Parts: sequence; structure tokens; C-alpha cells
Amino acid sequence: MAGAAQGTGTVVVVGSINVDEVAEVERIPRPGETVLATASRRNVGGKGANQAVAACIVADEVAFIGRVGADAHGDFLRRGLHDHGVDVAMLVAVDGHESGAAHITVADGENTIVVVGGANRAWDRLDDSEAARVGAAAVVVCQLEIPPTVVDDTAAHTRGRFVLNAAPAGPVSAPTLRRCDPVIVNEHELAELTGQAVGDIASATAAATALREQGALSVVATLGASGAVWVTDDGSGHSPAPTVRVVDSTGAGDLFVGVLAGRLATGEPMNIAVADAVGAASVSVGAAGTIDSYPVRGEL
Ligand code: RIB
Repeated sequence: MAGAAQGTGTVVVVGSINVDEVAEVERIPRPGETVLATASRRNVGGKGANQAVAACIVADEVAFIGRVGADAHGDFLRRGLHDHGVDVAMLVAVDGHESGAAHITVADGENTIVVVGGANRAWDRLDDSEAARVGAAAVVVCQLEIPPTVVDDTAAHTRGRFVLNAAPAGPVSAPTLRRCDPVIVNEHELAELTGQAVGDIASATAAATALREQGALSVVATLGASGAVWVTDDGSGHSPAPTVRVVDSTGAGDLFVGVLAGRLATGEPMNIAVADAVGAASVSVGAAGTIDSYPVRGEL
């Protein structure tokens, strides 16, 4: 692991931020079908923003670097992220682009999400002050809803620990993969990155081992109701999840990533960080909402 003393306890998330337009429905519509929502809400979302809010539950200090539109949605997102305890001084409003948006339907524990990237796609690298902030953090977190050039630039400027949530599924450059400690994937992303079938704990551990052999320093794979597995240079392990009734799993993966990153930033070993992340995600899937369903500081 690189630079453990680097800004101990601080997490910097470089990532996406969206206005989530959520509709609760009795069942997810089929292609060509129209259904009526039973409830609706608008909230701060985006994998990066959710992960920053989640990191605040356990980390000492969390900053977010990203892009919104110079519009009312941008103001809404800035205020919302700040109100959840995240430093938004490096959230930049860009002219000529709308803030990112996600259209989410939730039914009986399942969801579908369509993301309109907007301002999240309107940059291609970090500026000098952003690069310096990344370089000073204990842990830096990225996902794949921002341009790959920004992800690669962030990985290259990281002096502490680089954590990549390879979601939504997509290619990861070889230099960036070599800096991941860990790369965090769900079972679908793990299957896509390795070409291996993932169906249970043993096959997930085998595929995670293969992904580590591709160059990642460590790998964590989330397995829904089966918890998560991890592979490091010290070996591998499995953290089971408690049995819970799933009401809404939207953003549970982001909560997992944020808590894991926060725990690593405060010096916890991988097995403890993964166990805490599994526990946090299990709490959030039992309630409706994304960041609204996250546990609060001290609750874990
Ligand atoms: O992971 C959930 C998130 O995915 C939502 O908040 C939505 O904005 C999309 O980015």
C-alpha cells in the first residue's frame, strides 16, 4: 500500500454527481409499456456523490471533485452534498452543460437506472489545484461515470491509496488498474472484466484472483445477499451479509464503496473495512431511498 501517512483519515472522491429523479412503481415497465408511479422524489445522487456521502459516515474529512451545470440543478446538488458533510469547494459549475441526471425506477427491491451524463462528461483531466488535493489525500476514490481520461489522470496523481469502483461496467486502462488498491466490482462487472462466470463465493474468489493477476493490487467483489469477497497480497477472504428484506437497493453499492474507502483511510485492514461496508450496505437496502437510507455517523 502506498503512503499510509498521506493525509490520514482524508478521502477525496473524484466522480459523478446527478439529480436523481426517482419513481416508485408496482413493477418495472416492459419495453413499450407505460406504468403509473405510486410515489416520486428528487434527490442528490450519482455514484461519486453517493460514495462521498457514505465516506463521511466513517472518515475524518471528505472532499468531492466533480462538475455540475451552471444551473439550478447545480445549486441544488452543491447544497445537498455540502449539507451531508462533504467539502464541495472543488465542485466546479461549467457553462453550456446541464447537470447530470439519473432516471430511476424502483419496484419491489429492484431498480433500473438511466444516466444522462451532462456536465459529468465536460472535462478531460484534473486542473493543478485538483491534482494537488488528490496528491495529498490518504484515499482517492473514482468510478466510471466520468471520462476515462479523468480517471487515468486521477490515478496518476494519487500518492496515497487509489480505490476504483469499476461501475458502470467498462474498460479500465492497464496503468490505472495497476494502481487500484482495491478495484471494487459487483458480480456482473467482475464477469465482464475477467470473462469468467461468477455465480457463488468460490467462483467470485477465483475471478477476483484473476483480476488481481491482471495487475490490480487488490480486488473486492460485492455479491449482494452473499456479502463480499476480497483478494489481497495476504490472501483472500469472504465477509457474509446478514439476512435482510430488500426494499430498495439503489445506491447500496456506493455506500459499500464509501464506507470501505473511509475505513481504509483511517488505517483499518481490508477484512475489517469489507465487513463494515457489508454491514452498512445491509442496513441501507432495508429502507427506501439512496443517501436518505444510509446509516449516520456512529451508527455502524
Ligand atoms: O448507484 C446509484 C447511482 O447511479 C444513482 O444515484 C444514479 O445517479 C446513478 O449514478
